[in-house]
Amino acid sequence: MSRNNLEREWHELSIPWIKEAREGRNPTRTGLLDKPMLEACGNVEGLKILDCGCGEGRFCRMLLDKGAEYVFGLDLCKPMIEAATELQSRNDAYRVANVQDLSFIEDEAFDLVVSYLNQCDLPDFDANNREVFRVLRTGGLFVVANLHPMRSAVGQWHRTDDGEKQHVILDSYFDEGERHWKIMGVELTNFHRSLSTYTSAFLHAGFRIDKITEPTVTREQLALYPELDDELRVPNFIIYTLRKP
Ligand SMILES: C[S@@+](CC[C@H](N)C(=O)[O-])C[C@H]1O[C@@H](n2cnc3c(N)ncnc32)[C@H](O)[C@@H]1O
Repeated sequence: MSRNNLEREWHELSIPWIKEAREGRNPTRTGLLDKPMLEACGNVEGLKILDCGCGEGRFCRMLLDKGAEYVFGLDLCKPMIEAATELQSRNDAYRVANVQDLSFIEDEAFDLVVSYLNQCDLPDFDANNREVFRVLRTGGLFVVANLHPMRSAVGQWHRTDDGEKQHVILDSYFDEGERHWKIMGVELTNFHRSLSTYTSAFLHAGFRIDKITEPTVTREQLALYPELDDELRVPNFIIYTLRKP
């Protein structure tokens, strides 16, 4: 899959994606991932933060609301960056860029780097690891939310004839590479890698793994977002809290 095709897919998906984000409807974010992502980031007051694959900028705005001094959001998809810029305040900036090459950023320029469901989109996630390690200050955190490797392998439910979910199919786990999904009616390519591939690459890039979180829902969240009932059964996402020692 060429870079142009990956860009084209995100370009097409950006229209429904931005609409959904603006309507505040995205249960996996608001009901599941936002809270542990913010917890993993810790106290962000006064920090300079880089968001790799920021989309239309929702998490950048959340970090600013929590007191970040400055947030720089990067995304390959121009309409996403235009949408983020529309809601820009004085303390954030956005740029169309491929997060596998951050050569326009100086060494140790950021206190914290986040990647909120972006590494699964990258053909060369290790290039992103190396670049983030370089632009992060010593002692800073790199917080990565990703599809859980057990779900990115195949990711489908086996259902009874009347549609009831029985179990998730886990297969082709060690067959790493492209996977094709339909999201909001748009064909999207992303990349499956095993847990050991991710963790080995983080360590090899020089990061220390401070924590691994597998987010699930509380009963209270489930009452608000009943569609997240799957999350009590199987891990859909994973958050790696990495530190540059
Ligand atoms: C699943 S979305 C997540 C967006 C945002 N972080 C959020 O949580 O709403 C993934 C984003 O990564 C962007 N993306 C994909 N490949 C990229 C690359 N090589 N460099 C920068 N951004 C990329 C897509 O355009 C898309 O906006």
